[in-house]
Amino acid sequence: MAKRIRKAVFPVAGLGTRFLPATKANPKEMLPVVDKPLIQYAAEEAVRAGIETLIFVNGRNKRSIPDHFDKAYELETELEQQGKLDRLEAVRNIIPPHVACIYIRQSEALGLGHAVMCAEPVVGDEPFAVILADDLIDDGEGNGCLAQMVARYDEQVASILGVQRVPEAHTDRYGVVDVDPLAERLGRLKGIVEKPQPADAPSNLGVVGRYILNSSIFNKLRQTRPGAGGEIQLTDAIDALRQDEPVLAYEFEGTRYDCGDKLGYLQATIEYGLKHPELGPAFSAYLQARG
Ligand code: G1P
Repeated sequence: MAKRIRKAVFPVAGLGTRFLPATKANPKEMLPVVDKPLIQYAAEEAVRAGIETLIFVNGRNKRSIPDHFDKAYELETELEQQGKLDRLEAVRNIIPPHVACIYIRQSEALGLGHAVMCAEPVVGDEPFAVILADDLIDDGEGNGCLAQMVARYDEQVASILGVQRVPEAHTDRYGVVDVDPLAERLGRLKGIVEKPQPADAPSNLGVVGRYILNSSIFNKLRQTRPGAGGEIQLTDAIDALRQDEPVLAYEFEGTRYDCGDKLGYLQATIEYGLKHPELGPAFSAYLQARG
């Protein structure tokens, strides 16, 4: 029987250098897309997938993330007094009461693999999710990319990576997988490489910031030496894991915006602006008039 996926790890200790100076004093995960920070979209996706414990692995300058998910007494009192009840609702129930937030400090930015390893004392011996908040994934009316992956996990009971086809010229931005097809949208991993040059890439299927991992990944992470960019790469530990047990790659349904990149971030802002209930019609009229 598949164990329930109850915990999600959010590595948020990256330096966000591509967005400097916006990210000088604020983490990139707090950049807003229209009116919500990226980390809130990620947390909501996790909650919709049934996650009950959100584990944030943060570094310096990350006070704003715990503050964002915390109660804001003064603000709430003021909004209440001013009768701004819709705004009050927007700040009050960001995370439902049954969901807990835990913060772990990654004191050195040694890579994604290291960040995930920092969560081991809280994750313990159960399968868990990893979400990279700068990959914003919209699956329309669905329950979110992670919920799709949890459903696959329940059937297959194996670690699963969320993947999508990426332009061949961009393989050097992703962990790229080599798979044997298993079922529709699902393959079994034969290999995975971190950020290969297009000529060396085993395919154009890139991992995009969603993972469900068995706790056996922690042993592999402990044995992982610094790889691409001198960092401890989650990709390398996954490559070691798939040699011991099945690891799957799942082509999720939905559109992914690379919000760690300025162009992807602007594209997300336009699309989320257009479908925003209050803003959409006026924003669409503005874009049309502009031609
Ligand atoms: C990380 C991972 C990479 C993955 C990517 C998805 O890279 O190391 O394997 O494909 O996230 O966004 P980063 O974008 O943090 O450099």
